[in-house]
Amino acid sequence: MFETLGRSARILLLGGTSEIGLAILAALRAPAGTQVLLAGRDEQRLTAAGKGLRFEVTPLVFDAADPGSHRAVIEQAFAAGPVDLVIAATGVLIPQERIDADPDLAAQMIDTNFTSHVTTLLDAAGRMRAQRHGTIIVLSSIAAIRPRKANYVYGAAKAGLDAFARGLTDALEGSGVRVLLVRPGFVIGRMTRGMTAAPMSSTPAQVGAAVAGALERETTELWVPAGLAAAAAMLRMVPRPLWRKMRR
Ligand SMILES: NC(=O)c1ccc[n+]([C@@H]2O[C@H](COP(=O)([O-])OP(=O)(O)OC[C@H]3O[C@@H](n4cnc5c(N)ncnc54)[C@H](OP(=O)(O)O)[C@@H]3O)[C@@H](O)[C@H]2O)c1
Repeated sequence: MFETLGRSARILLLGGTSEIGLAILAALRAPAGTQVLLAGRDEQRLTAAGKGLRFEVTPLVFDAADPGSHRAVIEQAFAAGPVDLVIAATGVLIPQERIDADPDLAAQMIDTNFTSHVTTLLDAAGRMRAQRHGTIIVLSSIAAIRPRKANYVYGAAKAGLDAFARGLTDALEGSGVRVLLVRPGFVIGRMTRGMTAAPMSSTPAQVGAAVAGALERETTELWVPAGLAAAAAMLRMVPRPLWRKMRR
């Protein structure tokens, strides 16, 4: 996807320390000289995260929970030139029982996993539309498919994000801007540390490789692993009384 640019590529990773986001960057077939903006809360950790990449990295301060600041962040990202790829990887997984005890945490989860993607991506999509090119990668989840009582606030935020990404895809048709909606299952890593891996789990590197491959094709929606699409269709059909009994 970068061959036709005729100049070095510019990429913005929202959630600049995300294991999946960094694995996507590592797997990308982007040329040397590519510039990457890592956007996140802590400049030192962003700089450290960028050390493992073979690109030129610049940290960009970004707090997903502060929507009033998002226009300035996107403005800054596009100020030095066109952005060819935005990877929206910001996210947080707070256990449901902690949310039950403190609904303010639910707001944090929805702001981070849903609202921040809407505010940043609407702005980025508008700028890409003006450039007449660009790609946006959205990290949804199998959790978006059907709310489970074990994590229904996370599931609700992901369902909102998934719906937003599908709407954005349709709204951008014919503009030259593409959305790739990615739905991983359980990914073994920092976000799921301490949890027992679910069936059809993957690693950040596997998600990265699958996303990099999909970018070279016309794909608009990607399940990781691919077999999860059929599993999701079956999960949708489980009768509600049975679904309710699921512990996780
Ligand atoms: N891991 C899974 O099983 C899984 C499965 C399906 C989908 N996903 C989705 O994939 C995406 C990436 O997940 P991951 O596994 O790479 O998780 P991760 O390594 O924990 O990355 C999450 C990223 O979000 C950032 N973040 C959290 N709150 C923020 C805030 N208020 N402002 C700015 N940045 C904030 C984190 O930054 P800090 O370093 O500052 O905390 C980190 O960069 C998420 O959207 C996640 O929901 C994950």
